[in-house]
Amino acid sequence: MIQLKEIKKTYFMGKQQIEVLKGIDLEVNKGEMIAIMGRSGSGKSTLLNILAGLDKPDHGIYLYQQETIHEKTLNDLAEFRRKRIGFILQNYPLIDSKNVFDNVALPLKYSNIPKKEMTDKVTTMLSTLGIEYVQSRSVDMLSGGEAQRVAIARALIQQPELILADEPTGSLDEESETEILALCKQLNDEGKTLIIVTHNPHVAEICHKKYKIHDGKLIMMPH
Ligand SMILES: Nc1ncnc2c1ncn2[C@@H]1O[C@H](COP(=O)(O)OP(=O)(O)O)[C@@H](O)[C@H]1O
Ligand SMILES: [Mg+2]
Repeated sequence: MIQLKEIKKTYFMGKQQIEVLKGIDLEVNKGEMIAIMGRSGSGKSTLLNILAGLDKPDHGIYLYQQETIHEKTLNDLAEFRRKRIGFILQNYPLIDSKNVFDNVALPLKYSNIPKKEMTDKVTTMLSTLGIEYVQSRSVDMLSGGEAQRVAIARALIQQPELILADEPTGSLDEESETEILALCKQLNDEGKTLIIVTHNPHVAEICHKKYKIHDGKLIMMPH
């Protein structure tokens, strides 16, 4: 499904040059769930952003189902992301002025689907995640675990094939963390492909493969 070859990324800060990714190779098969670990600042988010099409590599090849992603324009990347990718972040960026339903429905607004179908999709997604009871609540009234599930609902509403998660349990208490992990497992059992950046050994344990970014390279870890 995914092939990365010799991916490199350097950031420039004034005169300073930070070589973050120094030649990353990775293959991910459809239906796999993999963990990416590594110290803070090692380049995990940089790699995930490249996979999501939010950032472009300076060098190397990114193939997604035979499509050459590294050659796409920013416009094409935005479309690629919208159609194929569900992106889950640590700090669940929800829109405070909108309620839960509207936050989850947001990605569907671009696709011009009928209102009834939109409502059905959102309510189904909320019940799948066990949070139908918060549907009309304001998002600032939610617990951390609920807010993260709302953010996940929004990331999944378009049925993406690939789910990228950047420290999805990073700011959750233990109970919410367990719920989110069960959810990741469930999504994977349903055939979704997941790439999860994490510090959390529990997350890494439920993944099929574990990698670590070290000194700009991706190393496979024993399982
Ligand atoms: N947009 C940017 N501009 C300059 N430096 C950046 C940018 N994004 C990340 N970096 C730097 O690149 C390195 C890797 O960052 P990041 O991928 O966020 O690491 P991680 O997610 O593993 O903590 C860090 O040193 C960070 O400061
Ligand atoms: Mg990060």
